[in-house]
Amino acid sequence: MDWVKIIHILCVMGWMTSVFAVPRAIIYWKKEYDRIGEFGPTGDLTIRLYRFSAMLAVIGVLTGLWLAWSVWGFATWTHVKIAVVTVLAIHYIWTGKIVMRAKRGEFRESEVFLRIFNEVSVFITIAILWVVVVKPF
Ligand code: HEM
Repeated sequence: MDWVKIIHILCVMGWMTSVFAVPRAIIYWKKEYDRIGEFGPTGDLTIRLYRFSAMLAVIGVLTGLWLAWSVWGFATWTHVKIAVVTVLAIHYIWTGKIVMRAKRGEFRESEVFLRIFNEVSVFITIAILWVVVVKPF
């Protein structure tokens, strides 16, 4: 099962790349859009990054569930972890909605909102790591 865990950690690292980068990238995407008035390379990169990490997120969650079932028999801490990861997934889906609107040239969220929105994902991730490293239950 070590290889499943290695793939799990690799894929969640890849997911975190976009969790932490995409909300910030949207800030610079809007600046680019204001300057050139159309969809440009920053937007293109942001969408590709979001989609690639979404794929890694699916593999990360599936390998995590496999480990939780086969190694830990879904011990209580795995339920808590799944609950916190669900909050992170909702945050990521919300990010996806902002990305899809931006693709249509619609930038509703302010820079301050996006920066705070970005920091929220950091605290959720710290909570996930605390549960899996400390296994408090
Ligand atoms: C539904 C989603 C997930 C489930 C069910 C899950 C479950 C697990 C399980 C059972 C392990 C093995 C723990 C061990 O053997 O010590 C593990 C390891 C790990 N998971 Fe997840 N995980 C999920 C999502 C995530 C996410 C989103 C992250 C990162 C933010 C993450 C980070 C880690 C890390 C860093 C380890 C290695 C911990 C260690 O070796 O001490 N996992 N996960």
